Amino acid sequence: MPRGVKSKRRRQLEQALLLPVDWLEERSGLVGGVKYFLFRKVPHETNWFHTLGSATLTAFLVQVVTGVILAMYYKPTPDEAWDSIDRITNDLTLGWLVRGMHRWGASVFIILLFLHMGRVFLFGAYKYPRELNWLVGVILLTMALGEGLTGYLLPWDQTAYWATVVAININANAPIVGPFLGDFLRGGTEIGTETLARFYSLHMLVIPGGLFGLIGLHLYLVIRLGVTSPPWSKEAAGAEREEVITAKRGLVEPRPRGDGGAAADARGRPEA
Ligand code: HEM
Repeated sequence: MPRGVKSKRRRQLEQALLLPVDWLEERSGLVGGVKYFLFRKVPHETNWFHTLGSATLTAFLVQVVTGVILAMYYKPTPDEAWDSIDRITNDLTLGWLVRGMHRWGASVFIILLFLHMGRVFLFGAYKYPRELNWLVGVILLTMALGEGLTGYLLPWDQTAYWATVVAININANAPIVGPFLGDFLRGGTEIGTETLARFYSLHMLVIPGGLFGLIGLHLYLVIRLGVTSPPWSKEAAGAEREEVITAKRGLVEPRPRGDGGAAADARGRPEA
């Protein structure tokens, strides 16, 4: 058989293997969507700074996976919270690792978030037409900090308790909405059972749900608008582009009349 020509048997095998993929594509268009995402064009000067968003996303996913495992063993009541954390750390197989990853991962997530935001700011990537994505980012940042606040109370030790007292008091001193915010976070007049329950609910249901939705919107906008070139990109600045002057040259760049425009360089300027 000539080289490069596939045997009938091989074609049949390939067809059989691709059957589920074709089935899915025909009914959802998902395969085409994933292909578009993976092979879309990005500026050729894309560099390591552009990976900070994906690094933030990875840190978030690590938090989700480790958080789900912790939620299987954590008990959100003042009597049992610390004991359940103690059991996770000291008794469960690799519990210390999962808890450690979640605890340290929280800081990694926030640090990467700020680095990503810094790169977006310094590259001017928040400007038209990406303002909406910047605004989505601001809400993401607020929610990520909310995850930090609500998660900190969950071990229910002295540090967690008093740090939360301070945080709630700061919120409660805000003008106008402060007292309502304080009552809402505390769930009453004292920090106790109600506070722990609502922090747990916010930490593992409400805020992560919001984060998932907004990250989806954020990534949709990134794909729709494309990523920006770095500020030092000569191509994006137009320096490597050949300028075509369509206006009547004499009006834009005055030059001696009568040479017919024959002696002009590539940018349309008369040669010296
Ligand atoms: C959970 C948090 C976040 C995740 C997972 C995330 C993820 C991403 C990813 C993967 C990209 C594309 C690659 C890149 O440019 O790095 C991106 C771009 C972008 N992000 Fe975020 N991001 C987050 C938070 C933020 C925040 C806090 C802001 C600003 C306040 C922000 C503003 C933007 C903007 C404006 C772009 C477009 C950049 C461009 O076109 O070059 N993001 N984000």
